[in-house]
Amino acid sequence: MSFQIALDGPAGAGKSTVAKAVAAALQFIYIDTGAMYRAMGLYFDSLGIDLDDESAIDSACPGASVTIAHQEGSQHIFLNGEDVTTAVRAEKAGMLASKTSAYGSVRRKLTSMQQEIAKVQNVVMDGRDIGTAVLPEAPLKVYLTASVEERARRRYLELKNKGQDPDLAEIAADIEQRDYQDMHREIAPLCQAEDAVYLDSSDLTAEQVVEKIVSLARERMNQE
Ligand code: DC
Repeated sequence: MSFQIALDGPAGAGKSTVAKAVAAALQFIYIDTGAMYRAMGLYFDSLGIDLDDESAIDSACPGASVTIAHQEGSQHIFLNGEDVTTAVRAEKAGMLASKTSAYGSVRRKLTSMQQEIAKVQNVVMDGRDIGTAVLPEAPLKVYLTASVEERARRRYLELKNKGQDPDLAEIAADIEQRDYQDMHREIAPLCQAEDAVYLDSSDLTAEQVVEKIVSLARERMNQE
């Protein structure tokens, strides 16, 4: 039987940094489900589909093949055979994903893929609905969050370090909008699973969060 760690939380809470490190420490596979939704968002955008047109989204859905491969420990994401690992990181891809992930056809497609992956291997899976909808039986669920101000500050520094000239207020407004969309959609909205461990990373380093999750995972694995 595989062991699953479900890691959910809002945009910018540090989920992917933490999930990668936890997966490396435990020698689990890391699955970034946000990247899968981002790839779908890019696909609909490339077809020029009106993102408010649900029936057009439903008809286009089967035409997208999203696959994941692990190369030298890092996740690569492919959209119809093309490596979109870098393209999915764009701000626009995040917004496209937040919008199109609200549709049932998109969620059903990716949810069943994610469940298949987690059946056969030990995973750290991060997203918005992993503990509530994708892996409701996961032996360890964590809800990782941080204040809007702290998440905006981290994103600001990240972009600044990349040589960009970001606007802190604009980043905070984008984060608030993404939170709202992710928490208020009808299907599988972002929320803490009842049995998830709540972790606020506002005053913690990534290392402290990783240590905490790894020790919780080791405890639970011993109980399995
Ligand atoms: O984690 P991220 O920023 O890469 O996610 C991009 C968007 O995808 C996010 O705003 C909502 C959506 N998403 C989702 O609905 N369910 C998931 N499991 C992961 C992401």
